[in-house]
Amino acid sequence: MKILITKPVPEIAIGMLKAQGYTLTVIDDHKLLTPAELIELSQQHDALLCVGFYRLDEAFFKACSHLKVVSLFSVGYNNVDLVAATKFGIPVGNTPDVLSNATADTAFLLMLATARKAFYMHRRVLSSEWKSFSAVANLGVELDNKTLGIFGLGRIGTAMAKKCKGAYNMQIIYHNRHQNKEAEKLLGATYVSFDELLQQSDVLSVHAALTPETKEIFNNEAFNKMKPGAIFINTARGELHQEQHLKEALLKGTIWGAGLDVTNPEPMEADNPLLFMPSVAVLPHIGSATVEARNGMAVYAAENA
Ligand code: DGY
Repeated sequence: MKILITKPVPEIAIGMLKAQGYTLTVIDDHKLLTPAELIELSQQHDALLCVGFYRLDEAFFKACSHLKVVSLFSVGYNNVDLVAATKFGIPVGNTPDVLSNATADTAFLLMLATARKAFYMHRRVLSSEWKSFSAVANLGVELDNKTLGIFGLGRIGTAMAKKCKGAYNMQIIYHNRHQNKEAEKLLGATYVSFDELLQQSDVLSVHAALTPETKEIFNNEAFNKMKPGAIFINTARGELHQEQHLKEALLKGTIWGAGLDVTNPEPMEADNPLLFMPSVAVLPHIGSATVEARNGMAVYAAENA
């Protein structure tokens, strides 16, 4: 059996798959395959271990209906047409759990960095603007006893809520498709409507999956309902927020700050005005980028394959 791996993965996965006697083709880290190249290469293999956010649509599954499995190196699967995969009888695997802690850490990091304008202040040091002490300039906000709103209280949302409760005694409210009774018990979290989440959150952290229902749900209408002092955090998928609307909300002071590990579109251009705003922190989709999480994802993806 031959497995196509679309980017290098931690060695542990390579060892596991080779030990099973599989032949592996690993594509170079910087090579981005075109849809046609991905199909052509997949046609020469029995299975696909998909690293990176390649669109696996109906056309792909139709052309590659021979595949025995598609194993994703991600928890998110919004890039995959599961209806088409099912139609062609191809099982698709993802990597939940193992990256929850790392991703929640990234949300926490962005929350604190945004609250203290840390990335902006770092840029000021780099550009020789650190001159003297000021008692009034560039003040941040504190997080103790504030309300944390979680949009999507699943594994990652719960890990973020736990950290915020432990560190700052934040009150937890959340909005989900279904109530999460277990997390309510664990965190003392309160289920609220989407509007209440917007209206009551001091920090609103997004952890939901990208679906047709959640696409750009954080838009003008949503930002207008938020508190002027609110911080918006997105470590899930960039397309959950409408980025132009987010920019306007920050410029007008409709909300106070934003911390993004995911952007819409991705990657973000280097001259994007968001990158120069004081209470904005942006990272390049590194939520799961720890040794522990990536090794966990590697084992999971190899086992799935
Ligand atoms: C995922 O797993 O979905 C992340 O976004 C990539 O690490």
